[in-house]
Amino acid sequence: MTSKALDSFLNENIADLKERGLYNEIDPVEGPNGPEIKIGGRTLINLSSNNYLGLATDERLKKVAKQAVDSHGVGAGAVRTINGTLDLHLELEKRLAAFKGTEAVISYQSGFNCNMAAISAVMDKHDAILSDELNHASIIDGCRLSKAKIIRFNHSDMEDLRQKAKETAESGQYKKIMVITDGVFSMDGDIAKLPEIVEIAEEFDLITYVDDAHGSGVLGKGAGTVKHFGLQDKVDFQMGTLSKAIGVIGGYVAGKANLIDWLKVHSRPFLFSTAVSPADAAASAKAIDILMESNELNEKLWENGNYLKAGLKQLGFDIGNSETPITPCIIGDENATQAFSKRLNEEGVYAKSIVFPTVPRGTGRVRNMPTAAHTKEMLDKAISIYEKVGKELGLI
Ligand SMILES: Cc1ncc(COP(=O)(O)O)c(C=O)c1O
Repeated sequence: MTSKALDSFLNENIADLKERGLYNEIDPVEGPNGPEIKIGGRTLINLSSNNYLGLATDERLKKVAKQAVDSHGVGAGAVRTINGTLDLHLELEKRLAAFKGTEAVISYQSGFNCNMAAISAVMDKHDAILSDELNHASIIDGCRLSKAKIIRFNHSDMEDLRQKAKETAESGQYKKIMVITDGVFSMDGDIAKLPEIVEIAEEFDLITYVDDAHGSGVLGKGAGTVKHFGLQDKVDFQMGTLSKAIGVIGGYVAGKANLIDWLKVHSRPFLFSTAVSPADAAASAKAIDILMESNELNEKLWENGNYLKAGLKQLGFDIGNSETPITPCIIGDENATQAFSKRLNEEGVYAKSIVFPTVPRGTGRVRNMPTAAHTKEMLDKAISIYEKVGKELGLI
């Protein structure tokens, strides 16, 4: 007999989420995740992916992935420290280090895993972490795992950060102090104030950690937020993912050689979990080559981002303070946000509603992510559907 306590816990909580508009229906996608996707037999304009550069379906990546299956098989075979380090993993790390402008790189199985791995490898209960209040869930969980004291600062509020850094440093209670931030905040599209953060870090000897999941491939001609500000020599951890702009799967930390050496012997997801497959490693390395050779995809992403933003803003939607192609349409109420997304879907636009706990309560939004792969016709069609549905629901 299975647990009655578990059953009632699950049933009550799922019903509660549904009632409050917080239950996320997951749609199966029938085919590739491109600028258009097929769901329930219907083809929709896809504004929901993080496939910023369209590389998830790129023919060049598909070709090297197939070749890697032929040459290396489908799995890495073991945890990397045992005998799962393939030449393809090392090649990927070498390219990433060149791309990021750091001495070395360690790759992991996902961006989420990176944050689980890297924060707790250097921080412990004798330490403190200053964390932006809007940081991604994987940062929050990575910080918790470390057992360090977590001190949240107001979003991108440099006065608050300086004050808290000062108090924390002067308290003399902590051996090490880290400041951690998203490079680009994924639900709003704003950029962390890295020059000020680095200045504060220098003043109080803080370790700097930037999660650049949404900056890599987007800012700094693709090399990320740290490069965008020219701070490669001043940020200790540049964490990134291979699952968004790079189009594949995996994550990495770029930094000085001694940091990467330490993570290779001390970070648990590296030591106790098998690495990404040969096809993944080869495809990611190819994506990095493409980004290092040309800015074409990056420029197209920005062109499309600016076009969609201008179109939605002109219609009267609240698109927040985005500084990147990420384009939120902020609605507020959770149920209204879900209803808006549903109607957009019925008319042909796939733009998912994002509600608590991904964003704070009462700030529900439809998050739009135009990519380098969208055509102007697709974006025009999406804008006209927004106009129709926005007027129908009294949102504009
Ligand atoms: C800021 C941030 N960090 C980390 C991750 C996790 O990356 P991955 O999907 O590669 O696990 C995400 C994914 O949504 C993210 O937005």
